[in-house]
Amino acid sequence: MKIIMLGAPGAGKGTQAKMIADKYDIPHISTGDIFRANIKEGTPLGMEAKQYMDKGLLVPDELTVKILLDRVAKKDCQNGYVLDGFPRTIPQAEVLDKALGERGDRIDHAIDVDVPDENIVKRMGGRRACLSCGATYHIEHVPPKQEGICDVCGQKLVLRDDDKPETVQNRLNVYHEQTQPLIDFYRNKGILKTVDGTKDKEEVFETIEAVLKA
Ligand code: AP5
Ligand code: MG
Repeated sequence: MKIIMLGAPGAGKGTQAKMIADKYDIPHISTGDIFRANIKEGTPLGMEAKQYMDKGLLVPDELTVKILLDRVAKKDCQNGYVLDGFPRTIPQAEVLDKALGERGDRIDHAIDVDVPDENIVKRMGGRRACLSCGATYHIEHVPPKQEGICDVCGQKLVLRDDDKPETVQNRLNVYHEQTQPLIDFYRNKGILKTVDGTKDKEEVFETIEAVLKA
């Protein structure tokens, strides 16, 4: 099963993608997490990506596409995967389609987690992220068992550099301009499902499970 998660920054793509990956035993692939891991390790890719991410801009397609195509070619992706944060532009979606098509393959579901901008701005300030395993929490809505510590891997949780209010607004603008057109792109392919992302995370997941079973 090959799934794409669509939705604005902070809509809950990562939260739901992790739940899907656990339930269906497929890898959760987040280009944002891959970039953040590279930033943490100080790699050249990380340094390049950071210049864009800190401003709330997209990392150029040339960098992003190669990383993603290399990742989905790995063995653990044979039975499917859930993509979180990719594609984010029409050219990215077209390259992915072409690469899969060459192997007689395709994306099965594109799930749009729909949350209005007002809710997003409120959510981001409370988010805490684990830069080691990619898990995300919210100080009120989705708290970790022990304050400031990741439930999954025990590392320290941080406020992401791009979660400052002015950067969040930029990310939202970029989303509406460059990523939202993908909703029509996948609707036209007949694989788009929109779920209400304002519900609590278990309820959102139940709706997604129903979509995947349908
Ligand atoms: P990326 O890491 O993908 O960030 P994003 O799209 O901005 O999305 P977020 O990770 O911020 O939000 P999310 O939807 O995963 O929400 P989450 O589950 O954490 O990308 C970062 C940057 O990398 C980009 O800006 C860009 O520069 C670059 N990049 C990445 N991919 C790229 C690409 N393909 N092309 C070019 N550039 C790329 O939830 C948010 C918060 O809400 C959390 O605190 C969570 O606990 C809470 N929450 C979740 N669900 C609920 C709920 N149902 N109710 C209440 N709270 C909830
Ligand atoms: Mg995320």
